[in-house]
Amino acid sequence: MERLDKFLCDSGVGTRSQVKVILKSGRVTVDGKPEKDPGKKIDPEKQTVCLDGERLGGMRRVVLMLNKPAGFVTATEDPVEKTVMELIPQEWKHLDVKPVGRLDKATEGLLLFTNDGDLLHRLISPKKEVPKVYYARHEGHADQADVEAFAAGLTLRDGTKCLPAKLEPIGPGESLVTVCEGKYHQVRRMMASREMTVLYLERRQEGSLTLGNLPRGQVRELTEAEIAELEPA
Ligand code: URA
Repeated sequence: MERLDKFLCDSGVGTRSQVKVILKSGRVTVDGKPEKDPGKKIDPEKQTVCLDGERLGGMRRVVLMLNKPAGFVTATEDPVEKTVMELIPQEWKHLDVKPVGRLDKATEGLLLFTNDGDLLHRLISPKKEVPKVYYARHEGHADQADVEAFAAGLTLRDGTKCLPAKLEPIGPGESLVTVCEGKYHQVRRMMASREMTVLYLERRQEGSLTLGNLPRGQVRELTEAEIAELEPA
């Protein structure tokens, strides 16, 4: 159960004070009956709330960016491990956000969350995967033959074929890897197929979105413009 005014705010109807005015004007109905009390307790799962006769979905759509630290698994629940959900502040957790794709427990960096199921599926769809840029510290050195093998599309040790990807050596035992798909342990397995063991992995970019100066372990909400840029046309 939640307060009607909070439900209306979370549905994107307006600010707390705008919602107050809207309620006073009698434009809101709960289960078909006009309701003016901002403190009225409602159950959005079971009750129908309408503004000017239009049903409200309840939850405001949000997309969040987490700078994931190592040591957290990407799951909504886990009986043993700490999950990334523990890093989401309550103000967003109650909006029922879920991780978009996954990062390994040891991997750090950019991880998105959303409560928009359609957007989530579009973002992880193999047809629309946006390029993701990883920084990898690894054993061995990447050379031109490795760069060419990545560009041609690697075959992993278990025979899995990968889409063409970009490998940019940036120093001894350090590379940037750009991939457009999200197979299990993808970057680690790609590097392993070229005899380079990944020691540290951080996702730095997804489409045009970068971590910016978001501190490790912190979360911020994306703007509508950033969300629009995330979705390839
Ligand atoms: N590739 C990996 O190997 N691990 C990740 O967490 C992400 C990409």
